[in-house]
Amino acid sequence: MTDVTLSSKNPTAVKAEALVVATAQTSDGVAVVSDQLPTDLLTELESLAPQLGVTGARDEVRKIPAGPKLAVDVLVLTGLGERAEDGTFATETLRRAAGAATRELAGLRSAAIALPASDDDEITAVTEGALLGAYAFNRYRTSGKDAGKDSTGKDGAKAAKNGKDPVASIEILTPLHKNAKAKVAAERAEIVAAAVHAARDLVNTAPNELYPATFADAAKTAAKDVRHVKVTVLDDKQLASGGYGGLTAVGQGSSRGPRLVKVAYTPAKPNGKVALVGKGITFDTGGISIKPAGGMEAMKSDMAGAAAVLSTVVAAAKLNLPVAVTGYLCLAENMPGGNAQRPADVITIYGGKTVEVLNTDAEGRLVMADGLVSAIEDGHDVVLDIATLTGAQMVALGTRTSAVMGTDEVRDEVKAAADTSGELFWPMPLPEELKSNIKSKVADVANSGPRWGGMLNAGLFLRTFVGDHPWAHLDIAGPAFNEGSGHGYTPGGGTGVGVRTLLSFLEGRAAAK
Ligand code: BES
Ligand code: MN
Ligand code: ZN
Repeated sequence: MTDVTLSSKNPTAVKAEALVVATAQTSDGVAVVSDQLPTDLLTELESLAPQLGVTGARDEVRKIPAGPKLAVDVLVLTGLGERAEDGTFATETLRRAAGAATRELAGLRSAAIALPASDDDEITAVTEGALLGAYAFNRYRTSGKDAGKDSTGKDGAKAAKNGKDPVASIEILTPLHKNAKAKVAAERAEIVAAAVHAARDLVNTAPNELYPATFADAAKTAAKDVRHVKVTVLDDKQLASGGYGGLTAVGQGSSRGPRLVKVAYTPAKPNGKVALVGKGITFDTGGISIKPAGGMEAMKSDMAGAAAVLSTVVAAAKLNLPVAVTGYLCLAENMPGGNAQRPADVITIYGGKTVEVLNTDAEGRLVMADGLVSAIEDGHDVVLDIATLTGAQMVALGTRTSAVMGTDEVRDEVKAAADTSGELFWPMPLPEELKSNIKSKVADVANSGPRWGGMLNAGLFLRTFVGDHPWAHLDIAGPAFNEGSGHGYTPGGGTGVGVRTLLSFLEGRAAAK
């Protein structure tokens, strides 16, 4: 990962390849937002901005030659948009602007960032954003004469840029570089960003490499040498004999059997115990209720919930949070093999409830049901689950806002945690009257119902296995995988969504009296 340091150097004197400065939109045009640059330089830049097409809008990044007054080669102007009514910028705005800038710094060795960073919240946001934007997944690119060319060979320059490594090191310029709280904030930001990167890497890994058994290995590797973290794996035989009927049924159409991985972080004096259950369908073909071919490749991301859970537990341990956390990774590959489950099959979830499988493409809720029952059996104060569960989530909220449902208090606690972290979540209801949608003619419950309210039907299905236990369900179907190009600190491909919200939730619990 990109190396990051806090420094009090003057932006005019700092030696690096690039210097990042913020711009904003005001009623009189562009403003350069810096309490660190000298006024003559500010005025010069502000008068130059319109000719350069710089407007200060959010997500606008412009690179210009730095000129003789600076000791860097390139000046990078990153837009913050308009100030809030109180004259400040939201921390999430800083986070995105920092990330939008570092996404443009790929291939460089060094950069300095002179964004507003005069308290620990701002330092957290700028450091997190800068590191989150400094991400690339180049594992499958080979070097050689064709490296960096796209498949047509035409857009070589663009593809080459995409193949570049993130900027190697950044200095965050702040007057608080020696302040203890600022240092803690920056160290926390590094752990958080590493966790998000790890979740993105798992999502981006090709599904021929990442399947339940190798995901379980990845969990062991991630937890290796992390204090107080223990990983246990149930394999396909143990799941079948142990009564985990959801994981078994979904996994049986694949030659690569399912796994249930428990990742337990148990600090010395925990302030409560939290369970995190993650959907880990390493590839979702739909099974016998097979999906259309167009766009099916995105279904390698159907394990993003489990990836977020694994990253969160490891990060909680690295942050020494005084709260016990167990992650349950519900791993299976949904394939239409000769032994695949059929629509009309009746299966028994762990704990004994029966499900009529009407649609094998509604597989996530089946593996999650096993995980939820298992988590509740193990005894936790609260259970959160996170899953790329429904296409209906995207219909309701689009591709950038995740949904949260559950018991009222926990749902609101997750929403508040999301707001603190800067991730977009929105609360959704679980209306009693929709319960008839998942009624089965033969079993306790059916795994699919009418199209309308599909996200809520799925949430109600999960609630069947949770009862009255304090619980929230996070549906990240849209936000988990960015099929478009990057924006803010979010790259194309796996986004790592959920990690920051879950961590912020755990931090809240850890601090609770
Ligand atoms: N993994 C999908 C949901 C999904 C769709 C995630 C698009 C990300 C992008 C899930 O397993 C699924 O197929 N759900 C079905 C449920 C339906 C059959 C009741 C859906 O949403 O169409
Ligand atoms: Mn599916
Ligand atoms: Zn799925």
